[in-house]
Amino acid sequence: MTDTPFQNIEACVFDVYGTLLDFNSAVANCQDEIGPAAGQLSDLWRRKQLEYTWLRSLMGDHTDFWQVTGEALDHSLAALDIENSSLREKLMGLYRELAPYPEVAKTLEDIKNSGLKTTVLSNGEPSMLEESLKAAGIRNLLDEIYSIESVGIFKPHPSVYDYAASALGVAPDQIAFQSANGWDISGASAFGYTAVWINRAGLAEERLPAGPTATLPSLAELPKVLGIQ
Ligand code: LAC
Repeated sequence: MTDTPFQNIEACVFDVYGTLLDFNSAVANCQDEIGPAAGQLSDLWRRKQLEYTWLRSLMGDHTDFWQVTGEALDHSLAALDIENSSLREKLMGLYRELAPYPEVAKTLEDIKNSGLKTTVLSNGEPSMLEESLKAAGIRNLLDEIYSIESVGIFKPHPSVYDYAASALGVAPDQIAFQSANGWDISGASAFGYTAVWINRAGLAEERLPAGPTATLPSLAELPKVLGIQ
């Protein structure tokens, strides 16, 4: 067998929002109520949510991802002139029951059955992760849920990736880390993880210090890359 960067993998660690769960499904469920601005709202909400995580980390003023998600939504609703408190509550509720991407359950099942560990490493705070992974029907396919709340700073701070590797008790390069976020892939790869960019949307690659070991169009191709199929 030829050498591959994946032959010593011991654990598969997944990002959650945008990788396992489709954050666009919250707004999509309220499309009629929101009207033509729905797509714009979903994009802005996500962009602001991420910006606020990075800014809070830079400012040294951490608060959890649930709070940041709400603040990003408030900004986005105001920016698009669709302030409506019942819509806000509905969208926040839907964020705790986001739809999984179609290939997720089968992929996690195949990986788990191969004997590799399966975990998530997410900005999400523990209760929102537990609830939403359960609602998506995939909680039982994950051995552990790692939240950055154990570290107190958001991705892509290196201490986040260090935390998961230490908790798993494996070397960073024995972790196959999957994320749809190019910047998360850069952070994980710079720390030493074997990073797999799930580029469903065919986005241009980030120009950041470290990049993916492999890029796949969805998670469905992952078992083959790991050599378990
Ligand atoms: C997460 C965000 C970055 O799950 O998608 O950590």
